[in-house]
Amino acid sequence: MKSEILSLLKNTSDYLSGQKICDTLGVSRTAVWKIIKQLKEEGYVIDSVNNKGYRLLSCPDILSKEEIFSSLELAGTSFVRKIIYLNEVDSTNTRAKLEAENGACDGTLIVADEQTKGKGRRGRSFSSPKGVGIFMTLILKPEILPQKASMLTLIAGLAVCNGIRQVTDLDVKIKWPNDIVYNGKKICGILTEMSAEMDYVNHIVVGIGINVNHSDFPEEIKDVATSLYLETGRTFRRSDLIAAVIKEWEAYYEIFLKTKDLSLLKDDYNSRMINTNKKVLVIRGDDSYEAVARTIDADGELLVEKDGTLVKVMSGEVSVRGVYGYV
Ligand code: BTN
Repeated sequence: MKSEILSLLKNTSDYLSGQKICDTLGVSRTAVWKIIKQLKEEGYVIDSVNNKGYRLLSCPDILSKEEIFSSLELAGTSFVRKIIYLNEVDSTNTRAKLEAENGACDGTLIVADEQTKGKGRRGRSFSSPKGVGIFMTLILKPEILPQKASMLTLIAGLAVCNGIRQVTDLDVKIKWPNDIVYNGKKICGILTEMSAEMDYVNHIVVGIGINVNHSDFPEEIKDVATSLYLETGRTFRRSDLIAAVIKEWEAYYEIFLKTKDLSLLKDDYNSRMINTNKKVLVIRGDDSYEAVARTIDADGELLVEKDGTLVKVMSGEVSVRGVYGYV
């Protein structure tokens, strides 16, 4: 009910009468009054005027279930069917896998305000301090072959890239396969994990970590990480960003499911990819070679030019770095 009242308030620029809220939601005046009081305590600035009603003046940057749901509704997406919000968790991906094993439905979103063991790719950690970032994981149960799962990472990359662009106006790019970068530094990382049989996917979890309002980073990643705040001088409401990213995700995921590959999305991806025509170092285990990145194909593989021939590079298999640094 709280998220419905919040949605009504967010959707109305003028005063909304208490009676209108009661009639729309079929609840008592006292129930409405109590929820408005709670919202005010959480930091929502709501003007209450006798005979006029309530008017929402500003929303805090909090990530409650109700805040996220109402932002998703305002953005016009109904992709997320259930939200699990946690003040603190080891890793939203780890929690998502647990929830999925225990029967959580397709379209469940786990969001945390802080991660104590945020996971990155290749066993690395992901810095996840309290109150400034987006740490979220989507649980998906698509009818696709297990070998297609890594494509979802690329789709998430596209969705994050567009979502960030809409909310911040920053011209962020994708570093294949799964980082979002700006000014040569990383703003977001994506980690896709899967539980599958040989030819059947039980579930896939797509974890997204966005550096939003961070004002600094630990020494060891200072040179390669940045945040939306550091790049713009502005802070952003994380729930607005989540909603923009999920809305984009919904549209891209629908297109992906039509063909179950990236044939309809690769041009979009290529236009946002930072590696295009750049010298890259392809690192496979202890081996590495220099090449020039060209485009991705319909399977999401990166085509690199090595000694005049095109070689396909798969995302799970190798790491691609700029010859002179991270990008
Ligand atoms: C990477 O850059 O290597 C991937 C980083 C992925 C981080 C996100 S934050 C939400 C989700 N939970 C995790 O533990 N990791 C992902």
